[in-house]
Amino acid sequence: MTVFYRILIHMKSDPWLEKWMDLLREKSAGGILLELGCGSGWDTAELVSAGVNVIAADIARNKLPECAQAAPGAGILQLNLADPLPFSNHSMAVIIASLSLHYFSWENTMLIEAELRRCIQSGGILLARFNSTHDFHHGAASTEEIEPGFYQVGARAKRFFDKGSVKKFLHSWEIQFLEENVIQRYRNPKHVWEAMAVSN
Ligand SMILES: C[S@@+](CC[C@H](N)C(=O)[O-])C[C@H]1O[C@@H](n2cnc3c(N)ncnc32)[C@H](O)[C@@H]1O
Repeated sequence: MTVFYRILIHMKSDPWLEKWMDLLREKSAGGILLELGCGSGWDTAELVSAGVNVIAADIARNKLPECAQAAPGAGILQLNLADPLPFSNHSMAVIIASLSLHYFSWENTMLIEAELRRCIQSGGILLARFNSTHDFHHGAASTEEIEPGFYQVGARAKRFFDKGSVKKFLHSWEIQFLEENVIQRYRNPKHVWEAMAVSN
C-alpha cells in the first residue's frame, strides 16, 4: 500500500471498522471477505492492510480503479446488487455492506438479503451499515415517498431504515450487535444503523 493511502487511512474520520477488525480477521481466516458497494475503497484498504483476503465489488466502474489503487491485493469486481450475486452457495466467510443497501425497493432489498444468505458460510458474519430514518442531513426529510421508507432524494432513490426495518431485513440472521450511530465523514453528521449478524 502506498504511503499516501496509509496517511488517508490514518486521517479517516469514520474509523468504524476498528472495533470489528479482530473479529473480521478471525472469521475470514482462510476464507474470503466480500465487500459490497466498496466505492473508492476506504474500507477495502483498511481490510487489506489488516491482512484480510477481500473481494471488493461495486456497480460504479469509475470507482473500481480507485479501489484497486487504494487496496492492492484486493479482488475487484463490477456487479449490480440488484442482480444475483456471481458467487457459489456458502462461499463467503464474511460479507460487509456499508451504506450500499439503501438504493432498492423493499422487494429488491429482501432479494438482496436472500442472496447474502445464499452466499454466506454457515456461522459467517454480515457487517452492515444502513441509512437511518434520523439521517435528516442526507435525505431522510424528503417528502417524495416512493414506498414506505424509500424516498426520491435529488436524482437518487434512497431507503432510510428504522430499528424495526433493520431487524426485518435481518430476520433470518442472529443479530449480535445493532446500534444507531452518528458518523462525521461528511460536512454534516450522518445517522446510521450499524449491525453485525451471524448466519444461522
Ligand atoms: C454511500 S457509498 C458507500 C461506499 C463505501 N461502502 C463506504 O462506506 O464508504 C454507496 C456505494 O454503493 C454503490 N452502489 C450503489 N448501487 C449499487 C448497486 N446496485 N450495486 C452495487 N453497488 C452499488 C455505489 O456505487 C457506492 O460506491
